[in-house]
Amino acid sequence: MGFTTIIEPFRIHSTEEIALTSADERQRAIEKASYNLFGLHADEVTIDLLTDSGTGAMSAEQWAGMMVGDESYAGSRSFYRFREAVHALTGMPEVIPTHQGRAAEKILFTETLEPGDVVPNNTHFDTTRANVEYQGAIALNLVIPEGREPESVHPFKGNMDVDALAEVLTDPDRKVPLAMLTITNNSGGGQPVSMANIRQVSDLCHAHDVPLILDACRFAENSWFIKQREAGYAHESPAAIAREIFTLADGVTFSAKKDGLSNIGGFLALRDSELADRCRNLLVLTEGFPTYGGLAGYDLEAIARGLEEVVDPHYLTYRIRSIEYLAEKIVAAGVPIVQPPGGHAVYIDAGSMLGHIPSSQYPAQALAVELYLAGGIRGVEIGSVMFGKPLPDETEQPADMELVRLAIPRRTYTQSHIDYVAEVIAEVAGRAAALNGYRITRQAPWLRHFTAQFEPLEA
Ligand code: F0G
Repeated sequence: MGFTTIIEPFRIHSTEEIALTSADERQRAIEKASYNLFGLHADEVTIDLLTDSGTGAMSAEQWAGMMVGDESYAGSRSFYRFREAVHALTGMPEVIPTHQGRAAEKILFTETLEPGDVVPNNTHFDTTRANVEYQGAIALNLVIPEGREPESVHPFKGNMDVDALAEVLTDPDRKVPLAMLTITNNSGGGQPVSMANIRQVSDLCHAHDVPLILDACRFAENSWFIKQREAGYAHESPAAIAREIFTLADGVTFSAKKDGLSNIGGFLALRDSELADRCRNLLVLTEGFPTYGGLAGYDLEAIARGLEEVVDPHYLTYRIRSIEYLAEKIVAAGVPIVQPPGGHAVYIDAGSMLGHIPSSQYPAQALAVELYLAGGIRGVEIGSVMFGKPLPDETEQPADMELVRLAIPRRTYTQSHIDYVAEVIAEVAGRAAALNGYRITRQAPWLRHFTAQFEPLEA
């Protein structure tokens, strides 16, 4: 038609009230939560950009599918529908449902890793790293150098550094039972991995008899970037690109809460049937019988439909544009972000925006708290609170980057919500130099960012 406005390719069918709070209410709420945004009640939040995981809106088709969910304990019709959808997408013969992505990780790593083993990845997501380390193994991040620099622009900043991977795979002192690639690379800014890189990594792994497992939570967004940015893919459908990606892998861990367009669920898909049998034995112990794996029959129906809807080009056009739109607005206001914007989130470079706050005082935490106080916006710290490593001398090795992630739930917020978010961020950016850091007063040994308690520092 020649018009350029990209519209949401859906209309709203039911609505959900959001909380409009006063500055005093927000101040009380954040103090009560010990300055940890995970501790807020969701109805204290106006625009919730904590995560794109499980927070999206399902389609009428998905809700309808839930009504025909088969809740049989064994052999549920909904399982077979789910298995067919996963198989059609991934080509993997073994499909094991799990209640979410980290359950697939835990089961796979329990069966494959031993203490001292090494697992390379572009960048391990926090649950992936924690599950690797829980087995006593070492989680190595081998993203290309551009992937660690917020300002450097590269079409596929999620790519693995293939030379670094080759070095690890040929090191006789390292045992690598499996390698991973995270598509898109969430912890590195939601950045895509190119088909060429996936192919190189796959070839290299296979030359060393190392299976390649994709952490494919956002495979559709990654496929869309390949279509947009990689030579030779402009005329391929996102579904065909996704299927090509999966031909290069030996297994998939998946959280259906992202590109499954569902509120809960996940799977482990494998080619190796002997390994799959071992994983199923463990599944029965922790998740449930292999034809439901911790999910209701109706969840399996929702995911099966979600996997088909998510590769719709109209949906992906809107999805990727809506992230870019927020990015453009805040960049215009002078806010430094990870460039180019990712597929599911905009990552503000708090390290650069709050250059006066050292990593040891958690600049990204300071910014995340301030966005809540200013406008009721909840983002998440992806910096030294999440990834800092305690050192023997009681200091910490800081994270590579100090980011605040604003993750956009799928099909949930409209353009005016995003305009409001941009306005709040611009206001906070105007007084960034006056913000102060934080100190952790309490923390858990694993995944501390979920429950850590903080205290604001004086200037
Ligand atoms: N891998 C990646 C790349 C993820 O982003 C996540 C979750 C997981 C694995 C684990 O999946 O939550 O279903 O157990 N990411 C969410 C986020 C929590 O906010 O980015 P899960």
